[in-house]
Order: sequence, then structure tokens, then C-alpha cells
Amino acid sequence: MSELPSYLASVAKTIDHMIDRYFVDKTGELNKASAHLLAAGGKRLRPAVVMLAADTVKPGSSDDILHAALALEVTHTFTLVHDDIMDDDSLRRGAPTVHTKWDMPTGILAGDVLYARAFEHLCMAQAKDDAKVRAVTMLAKACDEICAGQHMDMSFEHRTDVTEGEYLEMVKKKTGVLYAAAAGIGAILAGGNGVQVKALYNFGLSTGIAFQIQDDIIDLLTPPEKSGKDQASDLREGKQTLLMIRAREKGLDLKKYQRDLSPADIQAAIRELTDAGVIDEVKKTATDLVAESNRHLSVLAPSKERQLLMDIGEFFVTRSF
Ligand code: IPE
Ligand code: IPE
Ligand code: MG
Ligand code: MG
Ligand code: MG
Repeated sequence: MSELPSYLASVAKTIDHMIDRYFVDKTGELNKASAHLLAAGGKRLRPAVVMLAADTVKPGSSDDILHAALALEVTHTFTLVHDDIMDDDSLRRGAPTVHTKWDMPTGILAGDVLYARAFEHLCMAQAKDDAKVRAVTMLAKACDEICAGQHMDMSFEHRTDVTEGEYLEMVKKKTGVLYAAAAGIGAILAGGNGVQVKALYNFGLSTGIAFQIQDDIIDLLTPPEKSGKDQASDLREGKQTLLMIRAREKGLDLKKYQRDLSPADIQAAIRELTDAGVIDEVKKTATDLVAESNRHLSVLAPSKERQLLMDIGEFFVTRSF
């Protein structure tokens, strides 16, 4: 039995405590809006990747860089707050989205506050200054790329000719690079050499792409009670996911689902895609990507943490929430 579930639970506990300490007790409406989604939970997978990457490079080093692990969670949450505005979603982490609980300006500003605080926490990590400068640069570049990926995601809504290559480029940017930065930053702050940092960065990048493919499957299949977010939001918004692209190749027309969908509509869409074999095919693409990602880790010495990284990659594509 893998140790991953108990490891993830312990990371979540650590990060939750830090969120309580640094975000939850602040006064003022904007601070409350900024803390809202952070405090609502979440899997805390990016902090886990930061810590595992650090401990793979230098055992025990993750204790010194908990603020960096928190920084990745805060960055991720910033992207979620703004993503929910762009995707017109009302539920996140089982709670109302920030822009629906408050209003649009507060949603935009709460995201901005989190974006700034992420860098503040990254700089609070205990590591050499030159390593922290490299880590800050890596996170800044990741945020730049996430914006580009999100822009692609939104612009694809107006197209019906998006290719698989374009989809992969988009998800690499909107989701892959933050997992890449999580692993890369953990390695940098632990004092890793160039080969180690690159290996971990690339592992995060390709497993992160697979993570997004699985997220697209979850969007369709998982009810809100379990996922904590709107179901079939991608269909409704006309997102060009791999599911959509493969369905189009098979001659299915999913345009009819670009409207508010009832549970029966969603079941009909799931049936169509299942019968055409689309869901199984897309699942296989994600699983293959993860299997291939493990080769990046072969330059690192075998350890419990390296194994947990491989387990987390597998979890990325087997999870149902
Ligand atoms: C959701 O990420 C956003 C994507 C990048 C697909 P998670 O599935 O990690 O969300 P939380 O943090 O657990 O809420
Ligand atoms: C968003 O992808 C990724 C980022 C937040 C950058 P999605 O729009 O699919 O994420 P969910 O499904 O809303 O979590
Ligand atoms: Mg979304
Ligand atoms: Mg989105
Ligand atoms: Mg999604």
C-alpha cells in the first residue's frame, strides 16, 4: 500500500496551519475574500510536490522551505480565483466562488492580493539568497506562462479547429508550468544541481499536463458534491479539451451542449462520449504521459521521496476529484 495518502494528509495539515496563521485571521473585507478559497480546502498537491522535490535532492530539507510550499498553493489559488471569473463558475472547493460570494472587483483584487503574497512567502523560505532569486524568477516566469495559457484557453472557445498540438501547448502553459515550477523550486531551494533541477522541472511539466487532461475528464464525470466545482462547465463554455477534440475527430457534435445543462443533459453527453470510446482513449493518453514522465527521475538517487513523486504522478491520472 502506497504511503501517498498519509503523506498528502500530513502536507495538507501543515499548509492548513500556515493558512490559518497568515491569511485567515486578518481583518477587512478584501483580506476575507482573499482567504476564502485558501481556507476552503483543496488537495494541496503543489506544496506536496515542492516538498518532495526538495527532500529528493536533500533529505530533510523540506522543513526549511515550508513558506515556498505555501507560496505555490497561494499562487495556485490566485489562478483559481481568476479562472472562476473567466469560466463563469459558481462553485469551487465546495464553496461559492469569490466573485459570486462578493463581486467582480473583489474577485479580481483578491486574486491580485494572493499573487503578491505568494512572492512574499517564497522569499520567507530559509535558503541561500541566490537560490531564492532563482526560485522567484522561476515562479514569475510560470505566472507569465499561466496567463498565456489561460489566454489560449479562452480564445479557443471561439474556434472549432483547435488541434491536439495546440491543446497540449495550452495545458502545458496553464497547468503544467506550475507543477514544473513546484518541483523546480523545491530542487533549487534544496541546493540541487542543474541536472537535478531540470529533471524535476521536466517531471512536473509532463505530469502537470496529464493532471489537466484528468481534470477535463473530472469536469465531465464527477458530480459537484464530489469535485467541489461546477460539473460540465467545459461543455457549457465550449472549451476545446482533448475530449472535445477527439469527439470532433469521430464526427460527434457537442455544440448542442453549449448552454445551461441539466443533470439529464450531462448524462446524455457522458453516454455519447463513452459509447464513441472517447473517454477511454483520452484516459490512456494521460496514463501514457505519466508513465513516460518517470524517466526524468532516473537521474536522481532512489529514495522514499522519489517513489512518492512517482506515486503522485500516478494519482494525478487515477483520481476522481
Ligand atoms: C484545479 O486544480 C485547477 C487545475 C489546474 C486543473 P486542483 O484539482 O489541484 O484543485 P484543488 O487545489 O484541489 O482545489
Ligand atoms: C484552469 O483550468 C487552470 C488554471 C486555474 C490556471 P480549468 O478551468 O479546467 O480548472 P478548473 O476545472 O476550473 O479547476
Ligand atoms: Mg475553470
Ligand atoms: Mg479555465
Ligand atoms: Mg477543469
